[in-house]
Amino acid sequence: MSSERHTSLEQYARRRFVLSGTSVVKDHYPYCQSMEQLSVGAPNGRAAAAVSFAHYDYLALASDLRIQNAAKQAIDDIGVGVGASRLVGGERAAHRELEAEFAEFIGVDDTLALVSGYGTNVTLVSHLLTKGDLIIVDETSHNSIMVGTQLSRAATLTFRHNDLDHLAALLKAHRGNYGRVLVVVEGLYSMDGDVPDLPALIPLCRNHGAWLMIDEAHSVGVLGKTGRGVTEHFGIPASEIDLIVGTLSKAFVTCGGFIGGRQGVIDWLRFTLPGFVYSVGMPPPSVAAARCALGILQNEPERLRLLHDNSRYFVEGARARGLNTGTAAGAAVRRDRRTSRRLLCSANCPDCGAEGSATPPFLRDGWTYPAPD
Ligand SMILES: Cc1ncc(COP(=O)(O)O)c(C=O)c1O
Repeated sequence: MSSERHTSLEQYARRRFVLSGTSVVKDHYPYCQSMEQLSVGAPNGRAAAAVSFAHYDYLALASDLRIQNAAKQAIDDIGVGVGASRLVGGERAAHRELEAEFAEFIGVDDTLALVSGYGTNVTLVSHLLTKGDLIIVDETSHNSIMVGTQLSRAATLTFRHNDLDHLAALLKAHRGNYGRVLVVVEGLYSMDGDVPDLPALIPLCRNHGAWLMIDEAHSVGVLGKTGRGVTEHFGIPASEIDLIVGTLSKAFVTCGGFIGGRQGVIDWLRFTLPGFVYSVGMPPPSVAAARCALGILQNEPERLRLLHDNSRYFVEGARARGLNTGTAAGAAVRRDRRTSRRLLCSANCPDCGAEGSATPPFLRDGWTYPAPD
């Protein structure tokens, strides 16, 4: 028996950390930086305004007092937690109101709210299908979707990012060998800033008898004239999509996840989905914060207009300066190492009053940090 087998968990963890860490982090650990330091980085203790390239606060609601007060009120009224799974412990009216409001906003029959966006994908993707079925996912899908496929008993295939010809070829070649087939894409890919070709994707899935799930984590509250997501962006009713998943941690500035779909589907999930059945209900402050944020989004359309204007301005400006914005559609920007560096410089911008930027590096295996000039 090799001595490797007798290492403690801590020794094992240290070794794994070194193995994964040395390829990307040469001199220091650039992640989990103290936010306090980032926000008071200026000399003389003066607070510095920093452009953050790392946060999801798309509608500038993270420090909105109305949302904070709604959360405080919910603590006073209900408490900081609900103490049980909603299925067995019963639920608060606020949970159902949140679900109804998001269902109406997105344009689906009903939604189901869970404590985590990440956990929502993991539990949903792993729960939906079983042995003899097939899941086909875009290769750049979020880790939570990928982990869901690993936990599922269904077979999994990936198609090249946003390449519907590749997806069509996979469906043609493999559809006949499986019972049910689920195709999973994102509504807006946060690292590339591009969207799937929904008008082509829907008939493709239909023609092959495949269900379509869209993770709208970065597109709800962002895409479309009123922020209803990628379906609104393309002028397609959300009811055309079998499953829409969203998170409350991005535009809605708190945390939690939701699943939207037809009534029969949501009823079934409410009764069987492990991440809902065996996990506590969303904490009341988060429920209240998300509802308040949704209300503000609907009542203050100028926030969304500003987001769209800023995004367009940024992508057009970056392109005009010869920076590589990849396939970005104008809602988020993929940055390669060199582009990242130059963006950092442009964040020190007297026009917008920013004195610095908060940008942890996005690294691939084999890259080093800091990046060479
Ligand atoms: C596409 C996508 N889905 C799901 C999640 C998980 O959401 P949360 O951070 O709210 O758990 C993320 C998080 O960044 C994401 O980018």
